[in-house]
Amino acid sequence: MQIGRIKLVNPVILAPMAGVTDLPFRLLVKEMDCGLVYSEMVSDKGLLYKNSHTMDMLKIDDRERPVTMQIFGSEPASMASAARFVEQAGTDIIDINMGCPTPKIVKNGSGAALMCQPDLAYRIMVSVVETVNVPVTVKFRKGWNNGSINAVEMAKLAEKAGIAAIAVHGRTREQFYSGEADWNIIRQVKESVGIPVIGNGDIRTPYDAQRMLIETGCDGLMIGRGAQGNPWIFRQVAQYLATGEILPLPTVAERLSVMLRHLDMLVEYKGEYLGVREMRRHGAWYTKGLHHSSEIRLRFNQAVCKEDFVAVLEEFEE
Ligand SMILES: Cc1cc2nc3c(=O)[nH]c(=O)nc-3n(C[C@H](O)[C@H](O)[C@H](O)COP(=O)(O)O)c2cc1C
Repeated sequence: MQIGRIKLVNPVILAPMAGVTDLPFRLLVKEMDCGLVYSEMVSDKGLLYKNSHTMDMLKIDDRERPVTMQIFGSEPASMASAARFVEQAGTDIIDINMGCPTPKIVKNGSGAALMCQPDLAYRIMVSVVETVNVPVTVKFRKGWNNGSINAVEMAKLAEKAGIAAIAVHGRTREQFYSGEADWNIIRQVKESVGIPVIGNGDIRTPYDAQRMLIETGCDGLMIGRGAQGNPWIFRQVAQYLATGEILPLPTVAERLSVMLRHLDMLVEYKGEYLGVREMRRHGAWYTKGLHHSSEIRLRFNQAVCKEDFVAVLEEFEE
């Protein structure tokens, strides 16, 4: 799969997830053969006012390339400035968020709210595409609600605006993350445009990934929640699609060693205080379904420094 001039080694893509797809997690999934990583969503206004948390999100490591930085906002001019900013930060691709359902975002006219204003969405896409030299992609949903399903219309506008690829999450804004993703809409989008389409929603296994490709004809596969605590999924899916082989699940020891590496990177990039606290959530995902998982989670939540966390891991490795 290719997005503009950027060639992907495989079409298995990490979805943007606020609070999850920070630099350490992106590096980790990259080591597990992920074809393309997306950043957390970055606020156009945060960049304009040089908010320190927003500026931290711009850190890119060459080992994670190619990387897509996702921006959100609701005005063509400020989105163009944000795009210039992230291009200067060194991103390979810029993605525009038109799918975020959270009230805080949509009440400002950003994220999925842009699906209710296709003309404005079009102007934002054009202004970003005209401002930067890197390929620009867009990610949106099926529609706002069941009464306004307009992913196909949005896709056609995106293609007209010069967008290089589209990611479609097969749920409406009203659904948030509940119910089942509608893959049929992904197929309809794929049939309506010539640019690459990335299918998203409910891929949790290599079999789901293959079924998505067959049922929708999409070019790329985007995995979100299925990667939480499970960075191995990219290698499993890529290998299955390439050879039909199902790789063995990671052993408990492998799981613990990847957690340790994840913790190390979080502490390195964010400092011990924040790193340990953020690792609690990842730790719960990594250990879901393991023996004693609720006890482990409790102990993670009590960990206040790296040594505490490591002690829990060592204890459960034995
Ligand atoms: C915790 C979390 C944070 C998310 N943050 C973003 C985001 O910043 N930008 C975005 O476009 N989508 C975001 N999403 C949506 C995902 O990218 C994806 O579209 C959705 O989870 C469906 O895919 P999945 O079924 O593979 O999880 C987020 C989802 C989750 C669960």
